[in-house]
Amino acid sequence: MTIAPSRDSGSPTGSAAAETAAGRSGAAYDRADWASSFRNVLGELDQVPLVAARGTIPPDLAGSLYRNGPGRLERGGHWLHHPFDGDGMITALRFEAGQAVLTNRYVRTEGWLEEEAAGRFLYRGVFGSQKPGGLLANAFDLRMKNIANTHVVRLGDQLLALWEASSPHALDPDTLETRGLTLLDGVLGKGEAFSAHPRFDPGHHGEPRMVTFGVKAGPRSTIRVMEFAASGPRAGQLLAERHDSVAGFAFLHDFAITPRYAVFLQNAVAFNPIPFVVGLKGAAQCLASKPGEQGHFLIVPRPGAGDSSAEPAAPIVVPAPEGFVFHHLNAFEDAATGELVVDSIFYDDFPSIGPGVDFRSVDFDTLPAGRLVRTRLNLEHRTATSTVLEERCCEFAMVNPERQGLDARYGWTAVAECERGNAPLQAIEKLDLHTSERRVWSAAPRGFVSEPVMVPRPATQTSAAPSEDDGWVLVLVWNGARSASDLVILNAADLSEQAVLELPLAIPYGLHGSWAALG
Ligand code: CO
Repeated sequence: MTIAPSRDSGSPTGSAAAETAAGRSGAAYDRADWASSFRNVLGELDQVPLVAARGTIPPDLAGSLYRNGPGRLERGGHWLHHPFDGDGMITALRFEAGQAVLTNRYVRTEGWLEEEAAGRFLYRGVFGSQKPGGLLANAFDLRMKNIANTHVVRLGDQLLALWEASSPHALDPDTLETRGLTLLDGVLGKGEAFSAHPRFDPGHHGEPRMVTFGVKAGPRSTIRVMEFAASGPRAGQLLAERHDSVAGFAFLHDFAITPRYAVFLQNAVAFNPIPFVVGLKGAAQCLASKPGEQGHFLIVPRPGAGDSSAEPAAPIVVPAPEGFVFHHLNAFEDAATGELVVDSIFYDDFPSIGPGVDFRSVDFDTLPAGRLVRTRLNLEHRTATSTVLEERCCEFAMVNPERQGLDARYGWTAVAECERGNAPLQAIEKLDLHTSERRVWSAAPRGFVSEPVMVPRPATQTSAAPSEDDGWVLVLVWNGARSASDLVILNAADLSEQAVLELPLAIPYGLHGSWAALG
């Protein structure tokens, strides 16, 4: 079923211009509205109280929503080639007793501080942004700026701003002040890659854990899987780790976990560093699909998950269906069939923006659309079979965090307004993974959504086990009508709108975020 978008005043609803565009191109959105999110955030706000423009903030929503994303896309009139090259800016929305306050801060990375002082870009970007001065200024400049812009998670008494090619930055969880680069009490080497996609094991092995990885990529690649205590006095302490060397250039952005396994999909991509070295392209633009070659799943037994006296078993390699994957929804071990099940967002090809294309004028019709695909892996026979769970263009999906690694019934994902083809993400879908029933809340035509964050309702001592979809979905929406961002609180079960907070901030499209419950 579909829930019609709200038409109340103040909501990101249609205008004559948007309707004209829709009539002309069949699109549900106005390109100017979509592109208006690409801008700089120049101010930093500190604990600014928010009021709901509509609805009420649920009184039992208690904790902080943290979001990360590029906040600086231009300096001195010079625009980045790709928004993913923008400096990380953290937004925190703290909820308690029906009230909310907003704080936002740039991560004080070394590069951000230098460029603030200089008033211009001094570094090249991984996604192809060049510093001013043309080819000569960029050739053979391989210095990378750790832009800390991809994800933000709470670990113990600190927030970690993550960027997968290098070390995390530690921040104060309340003030968002940058404490500095952290090597996590010596766990990491200086500059060691540390994924921006940790997974939180809710307690399959006792205490909750943060499971994550780092990749040292090359002709052979090394994957380091690390498991940290995620709560209590040991929070942040490394509990277990393992290293595995695998064939080929491993571009691994995300992974999934089950109680026994860390599951990676190694896409069939090649890396040709020459255009990067000579200054023609960014490092990420030197990735290309290898036509005719197949990607594969790497199933790594989790360290510290079983009998610690046993030698760690080698990773299991299973050929993957064709396509390219950045993100997974979830994975689980199916007790009935013995299969390992992985839900991932597949693209037909590696989507990239070439050196000559401005990201603000990108043609969605020429880019592949993401589809949610379920792959069943038979680890004994090393075979995979896949089925499409959702044809509608989607990205950024999650299950109830308590169901991470288990056969979750529900997934929440950002989807396009149109049911076929590629388009900006404008709606949130709740998908019943057992029955395929769908519900959609839409911000179209003038609203554009970010990654949904599902927050379970806090358990009370008197209530029975809560339903898996009992809670809320928090979504940052770019409101083209207001040229600013809204925070929309949806009921996770039926996607009804609980509250809309019109933020005093215009936040460019971001990447990932997380929820940290109070206490
Ligand atoms: Co990601």
